[in-house]
Amino acid sequence: MDWGLQNRLARIIRPATGRTVMLAVDHGYFLGPTSRLEDPRETIAPLVSYADALMPTRGVLRTSVDPKTQTPIVLRVSGGTSIIGPSLADEEITTTFEEAIRMNVSAVALSIFVGTEYEHQTLMNLADLVNEGETYGIPVLAVTAVGKELGKRDARFLSLSCRIAAELGAHFVKTYYCEDFEKVVGGCPVPVVIAGGPKLDTMKDVLQLTHDAISRGAVGVDMGRNIWQSDHPVAAIQAVRAIVHEKYTVKKALDLFEGLKGKRK
Ligand code: 5RP
Repeated sequence: MDWGLQNRLARIIRPATGRTVMLAVDHGYFLGPTSRLEDPRETIAPLVSYADALMPTRGVLRTSVDPKTQTPIVLRVSGGTSIIGPSLADEEITTTFEEAIRMNVSAVALSIFVGTEYEHQTLMNLADLVNEGETYGIPVLAVTAVGKELGKRDARFLSLSCRIAAELGAHFVKTYYCEDFEKVVGGCPVPVVIAGGPKLDTMKDVLQLTHDAISRGAVGVDMGRNIWQSDHPVAAIQAVRAIVHEKYTVKKALDLFEGLKGKRK
């Protein structure tokens, strides 16, 4: 791996722990003004300094993120679909590498849709992005997307998707936590982070998900809704961090959350 690429990846996956807490705020690219992300600036501002990396689109980065931020950016560069359109899988690359470099990003991210009619198109998007990423020393994060088919989130499907992403050269992969998650990680030769998915019922569930994923081999989370849809997002991200970076148990992290949530929204 080229020096620049390794250096950028080390900004995201912290060398001190080998782990990362990424904050996903890219949902609007197909969902529009998602609940509690209606005003991205307001959502992002109190949280960004607690994240090891922020994952927006270029539109949200330019309009809603302070350019003085020290948090590395993982730029979402795929899209072109919407939740009311015919298929969420029909994505293309929306943002050039020149743009990504201009915005000083630490990595770019795209979705792949294995098993759909757009499998070939989205896998070639990944291959093309990796070719460019290798040219410019910018890592590529492949997101193993399932669109509206949340039931697809099992070890068989996610192992297949993650492995294909790694084989095509993705430098790290984002997927979902599932039963037998160690099989997903075991078959994927690059680091794996998990998405949080739709909001869970309790903070304990979020912390348990985080703990299970880390203890079964994930290097971290790229979490969105389960942080910023919380009534106490700043406390939530700190509790997640404590598990990811400081090996907190679920109970200890929940105690931390309860203690912090009274202090600040
Ligand atoms: C959509 C994405 C989102 O960033 C992702 O799903 C992470 O957010 P959440 O934790 O809310 O699921 O990549 O394809």
